[in-house]
Amino acid sequence: MKILVLNGPNLNLLGQREPSVYGSVRLEDINESLLFMAGELDVDLDFYQSNHEGALLDKLHAAIDECAAVIFNPGAFTHYSYALRDAVAAIGIPVIEVHLSNIHAREEFRHHSVIAPVAAGQIVGLGPQGYILALQAAVALARDAVFAGAEGTE
Ligand code: DQA
Repeated sequence: MKILVLNGPNLNLLGQREPSVYGSVRLEDINESLLFMAGELDVDLDFYQSNHEGALLDKLHAAIDECAAVIFNPGAFTHYSYALRDAVAAIGIPVIEVHLSNIHAREEFRHHSVIAPVAAGQIVGLGPQGYILALQAAVALARDAVFAGAEGTE
């Protein structure tokens, strides 16, 4: 089973970007701890980060055939990208939305996520730990889907 870990704009700058908001942990560090957890859970991970909406759309589309679930931090696209929202709704696999910061405690424009209504769930404000929790949730959701499918064929 493979899980896609998808990060949107500016998340490549984690560690040096506004450390008072996002902390000092780099995206590579987060990915390393995800790899460790993936080993424990016996799943494979595919990591992808892009600053381009179209590239994120293409990766979500490719996940239909390749992945059982997606962990997605859409960055600022969270708040206005109807195209990414439609892709999340279209792909038919669980997508867990993650934000390092508590978007509800920040500027007004960050309080709304256009992704949330079509995501399987949302984890906000827990820093890098949110990605680990999202991986556990993604695997549980994907495995449930496999069980549900298997029950249907019995
Ligand atoms: C973010 C929150 C967004 O509002 C912001 O634009 C980001 C990061 C987060 O992880 O807290 O780029 O998604």
